[in-house]
Amino acid sequence: MTRRKLIAGNWKMHGRSADLAWADRLSALMPLPPRSEIVVCPPATLLSGMAARVPGWVAVGAQDCAAQPDGAHTGDLSAPMLADLGARYVIAGHSERRRFHGETDALVRAKAEAALKAGLTPVICVGETLDQRQGGEAQSVVLRQMHASVPDAAAGRIIIAYEPVWAIGTGVHASPGDAGQMHRALREAWRGGDGEALRILYGGSVSPENAGELLSRADIDGALVGGASLDPARFAAIIRAAG
Ligand code: PGA
Repeated sequence: MTRRKLIAGNWKMHGRSADLAWADRLSALMPLPPRSEIVVCPPATLLSGMAARVPGWVAVGAQDCAAQPDGAHTGDLSAPMLADLGARYVIAGHSERRRFHGETDALVRAKAEAALKAGLTPVICVGETLDQRQGGEAQSVVLRQMHASVPDAAAGRIIIAYEPVWAIGTGVHASPGDAGQMHRALREAWRGGDGEALRILYGGSVSPENAGELLSRADIDGALVGGASLDPARFAAIIRAAG
């Protein structure tokens, strides 16, 4: 089973309209379309501008969506609204949302279901904290999160991102061996029976320096890149490392 690699950039709460020039710089750095699938997730304020400016081989994604399509939810943005702005992917259940917005597995699952219904591909995040890893619970925590936050759908319609909380924004990435092992466990625990079709990204301090080693593991199907995605040269270097 060959799974096409996917490199996704998560800008988090960074970027103003002037930063849309990122798209022009990325095109200049990579005049030919790479083999991997490429996604950039800017803040929602820049979604339509980014969708209009990226080269054809870059898709645009959102960082979160509401679980409902419309209604009295002040400040929220629904999956159909994000699709309307040009998004094709949406991150669901990033650890920063679980932590700072109290998002539960059940809410993450509802958001991912709303994304699927709107024709978006959800990128659902799971990952253990440092305490959980040190306590020997990493795998049980992550498998439990997957079962509770991922909707029942064909593996090809969903992307999972394994993002150990202790690796996000810290400069400390999971070793390729540990990450590969977790990805294997997720794939084997996938309920659908089509786990070999499931794409599982690694996220947490991915950089041009470590991307090659991480992405060469058979079970690591790509990367969810935070900080390093803001710099087009570093993002391009990670794309090249994916082959
Ligand atoms: P980082 O973030 O690459 O800056 O560690 C990854 C993420 O949070 O998706």
